[in-house]
Amino acid sequence: MTSPLKDVAAEPGSAKPDPLLVVDGVRRDFGGMRAVDVEHLEVQRGVVTGLIGPNGAGKTTLFNLLTGFDRPSAGRWTFDGQDVTTLPAHRLARRGMVRTFQLTRVLARLTVLENMKLAATGQRGERLLPALLRPLWGGQEAEIEKRADALLERFLLHTRRDEYAGYLSGGQRKLLEMARALMVDPALVLLDEPMAGVNPALRQDLLGHIDGLRRSGCTVLFVEHDMDVVMEISDWVVCMAQGRVIAEGTPASIVGNPDVIDAYLGSTHDEPGFREGE
Ligand SMILES: Nc1ncnc2c1ncn2[C@@H]1O[C@H](COP(=O)(O)OP(=O)(O)O)[C@@H](O)[C@H]1O
Ligand SMILES: [Mg+2]
Repeated sequence: MTSPLKDVAAEPGSAKPDPLLVVDGVRRDFGGMRAVDVEHLEVQRGVVTGLIGPNGAGKTTLFNLLTGFDRPSAGRWTFDGQDVTTLPAHRLARRGMVRTFQLTRVLARLTVLENMKLAATGQRGERLLPALLRPLWGGQEAEIEKRADALLERFLLHTRRDEYAGYLSGGQRKLLEMARALMVDPALVLLDEPMAGVNPALRQDLLGHIDGLRRSGCTVLFVEHDMDVVMEISDWVVCMAQGRVIAEGTPASIVGNPDVIDAYLGSTHDEPGFREGE
């Protein structure tokens, strides 16, 4: 299959043939510090885009803005052609745009299954108990449970279905977060460091799940530090530094990109994450 991105210019802000997400002039200031300053960014539909950049580059803040968990100082973005700049997270989720968190937010005192069912409403639900949500499910509870069970099986969590999520390992929580995000059958999934803190065996599973999402037509934008993972799974890579998009391109074009290398070398906190000899 030829890539839909083969003729796309490897430069920041490049136009894509069929963008699902289009970001324009998005800024987020914290006091005097501009954490995000993205002039233009298009995310191609149906592919996996890796978002890289040193610590503090603004990747998580950008995710927070795009998914309605934070408000921008300026700018707008469209999802599937619709301006969604002001939509809160739960409404974005219902439209098919969901995210996971760098630090997982599974609800420890709910069971694995309850966590899944809660996600069907698109709610994060910190303050809501499942019983309160029952009216929202509108008699669809059996259907929702069926979907939850199918996903738990796919993510190999079905044996933990009725245990409190608090008893899961860190890696299993990552899997649960991802499974939970898929309850709304999303068109776009944003994953913030899905592999961080996950053991090698589960990492392979997670990679497989990301690949599975792509094969099912889902669009994935994911933050990852391990360059080997980024190179293996991404169709396209975007690099941020100091709030800006400083490079874009195919994985191969990003590896030797001097601006990307400079960004990592210039950062005080972070290693590039390139591993040799693997
Ligand atoms: N709520 C906040 N208040 C103040 N500064 C913040 C806040 N959130 C993030 N920042 C700052 O914004 C910058 C970008 O952070 P972040 O988006 O977490 O980067 P990344 O995810 O790329 O590591 C950092 O300098 C961080 O300290
Ligand atoms: Mg981050």
